Amino acid sequence: MINVLFVCLGNICRSPLAEGVLLHAIREKGLENQIHVDSSGTSSYHIGDSPDPRTMQNARENKIILTSKARQFRVEDFEKFDYILAMDQSNYRNILRLDPFGKYEHKVRLFREFDEQERGADVPDPYFGGEEGFQHVFEIVERSVSKLLDHLTEKHNLSVSNQDP
Ligand code: 4NP
Repeated sequence: MINVLFVCLGNICRSPLAEGVLLHAIREKGLENQIHVDSSGTSSYHIGDSPDPRTMQNARENKIILTSKARQFRVEDFEKFDYILAMDQSNYRNILRLDPFGKYEHKVRLFREFDEQERGADVPDPYFGGEEGFQHVFEIVERSVSKLLDHLTEKHNLSVSNQDP
């Protein structure tokens, strides 16, 4: 099992969307038994909350249903997850601050390293902006998730397992 964790600030806009979009793509490809996905926030602001209503609505318009509840990133996540993908530089730095000896640095990456259109850029925070910001974020997330899944499939030799009778 490959464990993937998306991390933003509040865990109510960007990272739950990335989680939902990747889960959808995983189901489409029949890889449910090989990739586990979760998301979290570096802040405690929204612990226990559903995604932002604007994120949920935009996702729904794009045929993605979000069901996660916000939680804060915790140091145990360094052990549990293989890919810890930060939505922007600020969250990337805040995650690495929790790993003072750099033991897990190799697991922590910027999510948009997988965006061929603008590699390594921040996913803009849509929280304080208008509706159009949410669709912009969706398009970034969809594009990056697609390349991330290609990467995981190739690097870990994933294929649809059909072991059930
Ligand atoms: P997210 O967006 O990090 O993509 O979930 C935000 C959500 C809430 C806040 C900031 C960003 N906030 O300040 O409450």
